[in-house]
Parts: sequence; C-alpha cells; structure tokens
Amino acid sequence: YNNSVLLNHYTKRFYSIDTLKSKTNNKNVINWVEEQAKLCKPDKIHICDGSNEEFERLTSELVQKGFITKLNPNKRPNSFLARSDPSDVARVESSTFICTKDKVDAGPNNNWKDPKDMKATLNPLFDGCMKGRTMYVMPYSMGPINSPISHVGVQVTDSPFVVCNMKIMTRMGDEALKSIKENDKFVPCLHSVGAPLKEGQKDVAWPCNSKKYIVHYPEEYSIASYGSGYGGNALLGKKCFSLRIASVMARDNGWLAEHMLILGLTNEISGEKKYVAAAFPSACGKTNLAMLTPTIPGWKVETVGDDICWMKFGKDGRLYAINPENGFFGVAPGTSSSSNPNALEAIKKNTLFTNVALTSDNDVWWEGLSTPPMKAVDWHGNEWSPQSGIPAAHPNSRFTAPISQCPVIDPSWNDPKGVPISAIIFGGRRSSTIPLVYQAFDWKHGTFMGASTASELTAAAEGTLGQLRHDPFAMLPFCGYNMGDYFGHWLSMEQNSKDASKLPKIFYVNWFRKNKNGKFLWPGFGENSRVLKWIFERCNAKGEEGAQQSPIGYIPAKKSLDLDGLDISKDSLRELFSIDKNEWLNDLSSMRKYCSQFGNRLPKEIENQMNQLENRLNEY
Ligand code: GTP
Ligand code: SPV
Ligand code: MN
Repeated sequence: YNNSVLLNHYTKRFYSIDTLKSKTNNKNVINWVEEQAKLCKPDKIHICDGSNEEFERLTSELVQKGFITKLNPNKRPNSFLARSDPSDVARVESSTFICTKDKVDAGPNNNWKDPKDMKATLNPLFDGCMKGRTMYVMPYSMGPINSPISHVGVQVTDSPFVVCNMKIMTRMGDEALKSIKENDKFVPCLHSVGAPLKEGQKDVAWPCNSKKYIVHYPEEYSIASYGSGYGGNALLGKKCFSLRIASVMARDNGWLAEHMLILGLTNEISGEKKYVAAAFPSACGKTNLAMLTPTIPGWKVETVGDDICWMKFGKDGRLYAINPENGFFGVAPGTSSSSNPNALEAIKKNTLFTNVALTSDNDVWWEGLSTPPMKAVDWHGNEWSPQSGIPAAHPNSRFTAPISQCPVIDPSWNDPKGVPISAIIFGGRRSSTIPLVYQAFDWKHGTFMGASTASELTAAAEGTLGQLRHDPFAMLPFCGYNMGDYFGHWLSMEQNSKDASKLPKIFYVNWFRKNKNGKFLWPGFGENSRVLKWIFERCNAKGEEGAQQSPIGYIPAKKSLDLDGLDISKDSLRELFSIDKNEWLNDLSSMRKYCSQFGNRLPKEIENQMNQLENRLNEY
C-alpha cells in the first residue's frame, strides 16, 4: 500500500484519502488529515464536497437512525430538529483554553495551559476517539472565496450534524479546497464529540463527553475541540477560528476580528448609504439589529452579518469589513413576526433547529414565537403543555440558516472587497446607569468605551443568568490573547490608519435600561432605527451638530433624536438618558478594579481615559 492508505488498528480495515489527494496538491492539508486519521482511528473517512446532495444524504441518515426529526415539508421544507444532550446546550467557557508558551500572553481573560502540557492531556483523549465513526474532512473558507480579507481552514469531525451545520455556516467543500493553493497556510481544526463506539455498541442521538476541551494554539494558528457538539464549541469556523485565532492573526497583521454584526443603513430620501458594525455580547441583540425593520419612514436596513466581522484597511485608508460566515446561528426564543420578521422569513426552509419545541403538525415552536400551542414536545423530547410550567424550548435554542435566505440581505454581503465601515457601536444589557445612546469624543475615547463594556449574563454560555460582568468589546469569551494587549491593538489602529479622520465614529447603545418596576424604558427592536438614524446623521455632522456634550460623551441634542410617532412618556425619556454621577463613578471604580488584573499590559491610554472620565464626572 502507498502511504495514502491507512490502517485502522482497531478494525484492521484500510481506508484511503485518495479523494483528497485528487482534489488538492497542498501537501500540508494531506499530511495533516492523515495524521488526524492515524490519531483518531475512524472506521471511515469522508472528504466533504459541500454539495446539497451531501447535505441530503447526511440528514437522511440521521433521520433514519432517529437522531434528528424531519420537519413538515409543507411547512418547513428541507428542515430538521435536533435535540442535544441536556448537558451540551451552550458554550463552555470554563473548558475553553488559550495555549501560549507564556501564560501572560493568554492573559487573565483566558484559561491557560502550556501547549506541550495541553497536547499531552489531549493526545490520549483523541487517540481512537473516532472508533466506530466516520471522520468527515471539511475544507472551508471564512469569507468570500479568494477575498483578500478571507482565510481558510480545514476541520475534521466525527459528527455528521456538525458537517450539516458547517455547510450552512461556512463556504465549505470543493470550492474552498480549490482556493487553498499548493503552499497556502490553513487553520487546522480537529474536532471530536469524544464518544468512540465499541464493536456493536449502539449510538445515541447526540453523542458527547462530559469531559470537554475547547483548545486554541494561537502561536501555531490551530484548534482542537473535544467532547461537545454544540455550535460555538463544535463549529470551529465560528468562535474558535473567526474570533479566537483570527483576533491573534489580526493583532499580528494590523486588522480587526470582532464579535460584531454588520448592517447597511440607507437614507432612502437622499439615497446615501453607510455601513455600521456593532458589538454586543452573546444574546444581546446583534441578530435583531442586523435585520431590523425600521419603524421610521425613509430608512432601510440591510444585513451583511449578524455575529462576526473582520475589518482590514483598504487602499483609501478606510476600514473594509466582511462577514466571514455564510449563515446565521441565531437565538430562537423571542424571535417573532413582531420582533424580527426577517429572521422568521430566513428560517422558512433549509434550516437546522436545535433544542426548540416540536408541534403536533411537525413544525417548530419556542417561547415568544406566538401564542403557545395546546401541546408540544419540549426540547428534552417530553410531552409539554402551557401548564407544564417549564420552557418548551431551551433559552439558548438556536436556528442554523443560510444567510442568502435573509429577505433584507445586503447586495454587497458576498463582495470580496468588503464594505466600508462608517460607524462602530458597542453595547450591553444594562438595566441601569447606561443611557440609550452616546458617542465617543474620538478614537481613543471610543476604544475606552469598548473596553468598558459590561453586560448581564445570558443563556448563551454557562453561568448565573443576569449577573453583571465586564465583557470588553463583547469579546471576553473570544479574545485569543491578553485583553490588555487587545486594548493596545485597538488604540494602535489610529496610527495604522493613514488618515485618522477616516476611521469609523464610535457609539455606545443600551436597549435594556429598566424603570423601577423592572419594565424596559425603550421599546427596542424596530424602534432602534431611531437611534441608527441619529448615528447616521452624526457621521455626516460637522462638529457638535445634533449633539450635546456630557461627561460620558456626546448625547443627542434636544429634538435631534427622531421620536416622531413614538409612544413614550417624558418621564421615561428622561430616565432613559439620565446620567447619574454616583452610578457612573461606581462603574468607573469597578472598571479600575477590572483593569488592574492586566498589570503592565494595560495601555497607559486606558488609564488616561479613566482619569479623564473621573474628572469630567466630578465637574458634573
Ligand atoms: P449571539 O448569537 O449569542 O451572539 O446573540 P445576538 O447578539 O445575535 O442576540 P439576538 O439578536 O439573538 O438577541 C437575543 C435576545 O435579545 C432575544 O431574546 C431578543 O428578543 C433580545 N433583544 C434583541 N433586541 C432587543 C431590543 O432592542 N430590546 C429588547 N428589550 N430585547 C432585545
Ligand atoms: C454566541 O454565544 O455569541 C453565539 C453562539 O453567537 S455560539 O456560536 O455558540 O458562540
Ligand atoms: Mn455570538
């Protein structure tokens, strides 16, 4: 046998990766896949071509085995429901590691282990982990194929459901493989659910392992993930590559990899269009803002992306952004025809659902979608009725749908050049303190605003719901290196730009401020278009036009925020924009404490910004 034929030491069966060899002349791809096969010892190897036929074959097999449910084809064609193991429903930040030689390079914001030690831990786990299963090989491109802003990866996995998700979420298969030229680098991504099958052992619907490791080696740009089949842990193109590894690539090469949506905003009267990127923590409204239906006339929002944004400088000195993804992995609960009609439209077909409820006519349901059905099957697979007193869908249940199905998809969403960004928005879930919207005085102040982002915890990750935590730039779980250095990298963009006046303007928003009775002060969703309009106009404004100075930044001047036709009381508005000196000083002291952990990795400029804010507040 030539060396493309490998012997599986368990089954004594041979398999070959000749298909791969016939499709690529990149020796590193071939060698890396061979090594993973030798290590994981799958029964079979399948080189994914990314075709619809392949998707159909894999979903049919999963349906036949009873592992996923085919939804009613008259209601939701080519769509499926998966119920995860109840322990495998969200990202596992405590099992996520950044493995750098030097601990300080991972930073206090990450779990750290020495790469050698981590490999010594993982090797025995991966050894034979695919026994009884097929190893799927997925070449994929994050971003339009061959775009100068895109990067490629190769993921191997033993989960056919992960393959189906990756087909939707990335540009996966033959085309991506072709784009990896002979000497090109790629990000190797090893994934296993960590559930090898003994001879004759029956498989389960959602194999996984209670031991989980989501591991990144930033110094070699590679990833290894063990034990989970859930989105952010298993679709390695997403958070692992596009944020944790890409943030390091971005640091090394002068660009930005961010947890941001990208939208196009058009003033239909003047015809002018601007692109906006916005970073909110997990389950804090990116998908909703990206697809927003404006309530004010004459404005249009179009979607480029809803979760991840890569930005590089163009020749003209502006920042150009792409959405590296090809699909939406969106939060289901709360998605309805009133909150996000465009998302509902996007998930009408060709969609994978995880952990939502199944209705009696084989369609899906979740809390907030519509009036509850009389009965359903909940995400555990149990009979459910509104009287059950528990949610039918898991709060972090999700849909995976092709981005092309979004009815308000931006014409440039697939443009290899990317789209020029005029404004960057930060935000979090804050029931108090933070006003609806304010603007940074300049890039340095904007960087500080990003750094000071904090938000109440959601169900997207393990942890205590509602607990306030610092989440700088909405990147706390996703920054692949020391967060102090990351602040410095953001500051350095000002020097990297040829012309700092061409950098995006920076804003901060909070849709989640509440009154004393715990009710949201701002209606949110489509009404957020009013805030987008102010931001758009601020980008065109000369100096302080439409704005008013406050100790925290520019806030809308009287009458400059369009409230036409909005039913909101004067009191609510006042509360929504109130700046309480003591609350802000408390926030600042919490920020100082948070920042102290970065020691000498904290840029001096962040200290300056904290001192300046304190001075402005004390004069207020
Ligand atoms: P990830 O996919 O986890 O990164 O999340 P995301 O930021 O895309 O969050 P998404 O848009 O899915 O929003 C999650 C939750 O926030 C849902 O429950 C929404 O209903 C709620 N939400 C979104 N926008 C608003 C808003 O303007 N006001 C209020 N009150 N809730 C909102
Ligand atoms: C998030 O948690 O921010 C998500 C979902 O977008 S996941 O891909 O699981 O990270
Ligand atoms: Mn996200």
